[in-house]
Amino acid sequence: MNERPTVAVVGVGAMGEALASGLLAAGWLPDEIALCVRRMERADELAHRTGCPVFDDPAEAIKGRDAVVVAVKPRDVDSLLKDLAPAVEDGQTVISVAAGVTTATYEAALGAIAVVRAMPNTPALVGEGVTGLAAGSHAPVASLDLARKVLGAVGAVRFMDERLLDAVTAVSGTGPAYVFLLAEALTEAAMREGMPYDIAEQFVHQTIRGAGHLLTGTSRTPAQLRYQVTSPGGTTAAAVHVLEEHGFRALVEDAVRAAAERARELGEGAGS
Ligand SMILES: NC(=O)c1ccc[n+]([C@@H]2O[C@H](COP(=O)([O-])OP(=O)(O)OC[C@H]3O[C@@H](n4cnc5c(N)ncnc54)[C@H](OP(=O)(O)O)[C@@H]3O)[C@@H](O)[C@H]2O)c1
Repeated sequence: MNERPTVAVVGVGAMGEALASGLLAAGWLPDEIALCVRRMERADELAHRTGCPVFDDPAEAIKGRDAVVVAVKPRDVDSLLKDLAPAVEDGQTVISVAAGVTTATYEAALGAIAVVRAMPNTPALVGEGVTGLAAGSHAPVASLDLARKVLGAVGAVRFMDERLLDAVTAVSGTGPAYVFLLAEALTEAAMREGMPYDIAEQFVHQTIRGAGHLLTGTSRTPAQLRYQVTSPGGTTAAAVHVLEEHGFRALVEDAVRAAAERARELGEGAGS
């Protein structure tokens, strides 16, 4: 297989563009990534920004490409599959990033085609994504390698049982939003304590970045790292006490459960 499989991204919104930009940053050439949109003003903007060929016809966009990445909203998958069904060629691999939509839904619409379901996240834009992958029933090893190459170019990847992908959606697919919400809340709290906005922003962003590096760069657990900054009767102990008292962990669990349930509902809608 080519070192850089050719790719068509069908549906270039937040996720599709993050993936395309991540691939360009990882060394893909603009010609190696075809983009497919449904609004021409979006086409001009994307062509200008990425240099990639942009199409408004999915059949044209996917012609001759190794990987066909479906990055439309789950509710748009059914109608897109009707357009793709006559156009998908043997030997192509369809990679779906649509939350909740199963490989079985794709196989019902496209037949015995190689499908890999993926759940990436938007840090793919800066090469720091993480993607859960699951193989459809007609995907050969070559398709799994191809999906690993494409998504692996923009972050970490891991194959797993398809049933786990709704949880992946709720944890890492949605996860960046949890962190951004924390950043917003922490910045506002810093300002309430008298920090000017620019200082608050710099210190919050760097704290999240630094904590992330520490978490992934050592073998210590999050709890061990937390104990390291918690002295008895100190400031961290006071803050953590308030978070625990207000049910921080239960709140996070409820949020993740709500996201996973929503992913399942979206998938059922697309498959019906
Ligand atoms: N955003 C995330 O963080 C994230 C993470 C993991 C997975 N995902 C998955 O990625 C998919 C896209 O999410 P998103 O947040 O990127 O949504 P989005 O910003 O709405 O992007 C979807 C894009 O697809 C376009 N589209 C719809 N039907 C089309 C068609 N037939 N042909 C060509 N383009 C078409 C839409 O065009 P219009 O602008 O005309 O509507 C829109 O630009 C979803 O299935 C989601 O579950 C998203």
